Amino acid sequence: MQQPNQMPEVATQELPPEAYTSDEWLAQENKKLFSRSWVFAGVESKVANAGDYMTAKAGHFTLVVIRGNDGELRAFHNICRHRGTELLDHGCGNAGKTIVCPYHSWTFGLDGALRGIPDQQACFPDINKKENGLHRASVAVFKGIVFVNPEPDQDLSEWLSGLEDVVWPHDITSPELISYGEPVTYEMQCNWKVFFENAIDGYHLAYLHKNTLGGPTQDKNIWDPYGDNQVWYSTENETVRSRVPNFVSTRMDKWNAKKIPHAEKEGYGGVYMLFPTTLIVASPWSFSISVMEPVSAGVTRLHAYVWAAKSWMSSRGSVKDIPGYDKVSGMIKSSHWKVHPLETQDFQTEDVYVVEKMQRAMMSPKYTVGKMASGPGAESPLTYFQRSVLRHMEA
Ligand code: FES
Ligand SMILES: [Fe+2]
Repeated sequence: MQQPNQMPEVATQELPPEAYTSDEWLAQENKKLFSRSWVFAGVESKVANAGDYMTAKAGHFTLVVIRGNDGELRAFHNICRHRGTELLDHGCGNAGKTIVCPYHSWTFGLDGALRGIPDQQACFPDINKKENGLHRASVAVFKGIVFVNPEPDQDLSEWLSGLEDVVWPHDITSPELISYGEPVTYEMQCNWKVFFENAIDGYHLAYLHKNTLGGPTQDKNIWDPYGDNQVWYSTENETVRSRVPNFVSTRMDKWNAKKIPHAEKEGYGGVYMLFPTTLIVASPWSFSISVMEPVSAGVTRLHAYVWAAKSWMSSRGSVKDIPGYDKVSGMIKSSHWKVHPLETQDFQTEDVYVVEKMQRAMMSPKYTVGKMASGPGAESPLTYFQRSVLRHMEA
């Protein structure tokens, strides 16, 4: 097995086709991978006061992060200890002084302790309330961003594996930055790993995205591993790892795009793939956090949160302008494209186009992966990612 933090020299396909197409494989990922992995939950400002909560999904685990009366931020499985109903509604809000299950009104403290049971004497004469508190999970805040892990007592910095030292400069709590508000959700007909692999594929940038990102070619970009995470840089500029393709920065300069305060310095930006399902894209003009929700083996939702400098954001269009917007579900779907995806001038749409094509091909008994492009700016990062998946599945 490879040493951590070493990009394989030769790119090879490590996962079998069923890893992408089988719901049984996804069930195993829930048990062995998502059950112990960190995932983005939201921003800390949403849970500033006692009773404030935000729900999150890690694979199929349903979680909630909540601020206690003692000021402590805690995470629990959002599951009632009576018969398992999901407790708090999806999204953000304030629970008040306690969490009350809507089904039979079992009541939990903000610290997760079971406080009250209706008709306890008659219906539950022997119950031990101490043993029926909410199942604990882990929570950690990093640069104003809240991460959760379904397993209690986990260490976020161990998972970041040194990535803390190379992160984006933006402070997303800065008043000079505004967010798009609600996340934009893409519903893609592909496995979550097909999307992840497309995002770390440095070989396709100059070809699939020739009209949008325009590169770089594989020899002009690189993925650096940090534990199971990977960070992307452009090396087009030989003296500095510029972290934004030249093609993009030239165009943004032409548009006079407003830069994020404190992010003007050359070299800021990058793509941070936080294994397994969080993607952060930082540029001098915008900052986005996307989280993948594996719905089934062949369906993945990508929830994308975007921040930008105030004046720049106001000139942006709305979610309705994104190719594939479906006004009924409010999601972006390929079934709602009105023009060919390669004619949209939108690189995300180009990516959705190919990941869905990959997934359809994977269903064919004839599907195989041929030779892959070796190199840290080509397809070696896919091998690295797949080995990470396998390591968790075998652990
Ligand atoms: S399921 Fe929650 S109180 Fe019954
Ligand atoms: Fe792409």
